Amino acid sequence: MRFNRPVFIGLLAIGLAFAPTAAAAQKVELSVDAFRAGARIDRNIFGQFAEHLGYGIYGGIWVGPDSTIPNTRGIRNDVVTALRALKVPNVRWPGGCFADEYHWRNGIGPQRAVTLNPNWGGVIEPNTFGIHEFMDYLDQIGADAYVSINIGSGTPHEAADWLEYMTTAQPTTLAKERAANGHPAPYKVAYLGIGNESWDCGGNMSPDYYLSQLKIYSRFVRNFNPAQQDKQQMLKIAVGPGGDGPRWTDWTETIMKAYQQHSWSWDINGLSMHSYTVVKWPPSYASVGFGETEYAQILKSTLEMDGLINKHSAIMDKYDPEKKVALVVDEWGGWYAPLPGSNPGFLVQQNSLRDAILAALNLNIFARHADRVRGANIAQMINVLQSMILTEKERMVLTPTYYVYKMYVPFQDATFMPVTFEAGTYTHDHISLPRLDAIAAKDTKGRLWLEITNLDPNQPVEVDASVAGITAKSAAGETLTAPQVDSVNTFDVPDAVVPRPISAKLQGGKLVLKLAPKSVTVVSVEQ
Ligand code: AHR
Repeated sequence: MRFNRPVFIGLLAIGLAFAPTAAAAQKVELSVDAFRAGARIDRNIFGQFAEHLGYGIYGGIWVGPDSTIPNTRGIRNDVVTALRALKVPNVRWPGGCFADEYHWRNGIGPQRAVTLNPNWGGVIEPNTFGIHEFMDYLDQIGADAYVSINIGSGTPHEAADWLEYMTTAQPTTLAKERAANGHPAPYKVAYLGIGNESWDCGGNMSPDYYLSQLKIYSRFVRNFNPAQQDKQQMLKIAVGPGGDGPRWTDWTETIMKAYQQHSWSWDINGLSMHSYTVVKWPPSYASVGFGETEYAQILKSTLEMDGLINKHSAIMDKYDPEKKVALVVDEWGGWYAPLPGSNPGFLVQQNSLRDAILAALNLNIFARHADRVRGANIAQMINVLQSMILTEKERMVLTPTYYVYKMYVPFQDATFMPVTFEAGTYTHDHISLPRLDAIAAKDTKGRLWLEITNLDPNQPVEVDASVAGITAKSAAGETLTAPQVDSVNTFDVPDAVVPRPISAKLQGGKLVLKLAPKSVTVVSVEQ
């Protein structure tokens, strides 16, 4: 399979911390074209999603100020420290399906209403983590707010009041209430999600019905923050498709056709898309204790993200050729069977080397579509689905997916560069996948970065990389691999899947990279 992307120069001999297997390395020529800059890889494709679901918020982020677990105003210090290293651009909250049953007033003030969470296990929702706690959490980790409003069981009035409460600087009754609750200054709301999966858990709406709702909420739910009027305006994200069949293309058509003719009184800046890697519904693949067949099946399925983006981008291009509306993949990731013994409504799963590779493949797909895909939120941040972090009381462990996000930090807001390479094929059990995937980009300081994923779990790959337009001297970075496709980090063994440094030397004007089987590698090139 041939992939055309921007290129590279040089020869590198990389000493991998994980010795490649005895199998002979496949040789691959790869070139980056530093002359042909592509689109900016919006840092918001590295967004996160934190829903009131299982231990995602309670236990994962919020332990309360009286907890013996070290915290700042109730928010776990260990989690904040770990997340700061990822430079998380934005966090989508409070859901998910939860958002369309969330009433913001339950989560403010000294006396919180105790409610239920019927979507996720029917458990008690103490509402001790509300908008003030969410904004404090964002401040602590350095991220922007992506707030999803309730259009399913709420009203335009309720949502408009929430935005006024959060954003006005004028001395209105709601602003005074916000000040009395501890925050006199208006909050910044960078993104507004107008509903969630309104075609399903968000109210089972038809595309036309949703469109009417969208126009109303877009019109009346205003951001009053003075700092967000001319610059840093709040971006409104409409509910978009959740698959590739006619039901979903009709949805995208309906919204985008209306957008093309929209008047001054309503607008959108993004169309959401949800796509999980599940293979079978209900999710039944194990998140740990699986073999090569399940590895190959899941990766084959995850690569379908590219076709899905192509399909919906084509419709968007028809009505929005200037690409003003971003495609925002604000729920994606591997969704597997709940861990045995866990509450099935809590969506608890482990996170393996396979998930690290899955994450890298999807991030690369988003980067290749950087002109249209300008936001994405992996589901979810902590303790739910494909998380960054798992916690158990006072213990915390960083997942292989966390490390991929850390390795990809240099790609935030970097300029995409086309890479050309012969990917080759990895075949197992009648499933054929590209053996290799790669992206390259120039960061905001002009430094060149290359990511290469070796999907083949058995064979190392030797990459001879050249960069047109740059005289490369050396390269260095990190590689993430582990002995098994289902290797995981646990509370007892937290470092089974962690990145190891690699160093590289220039030889004969080319960079030679020896990539371990089933690995994700990111290097920067010294010129
Ligand atoms: O992430 C879990 C759920 O998946 C979300 O609440 C919903 O939007 C989606 O169906």
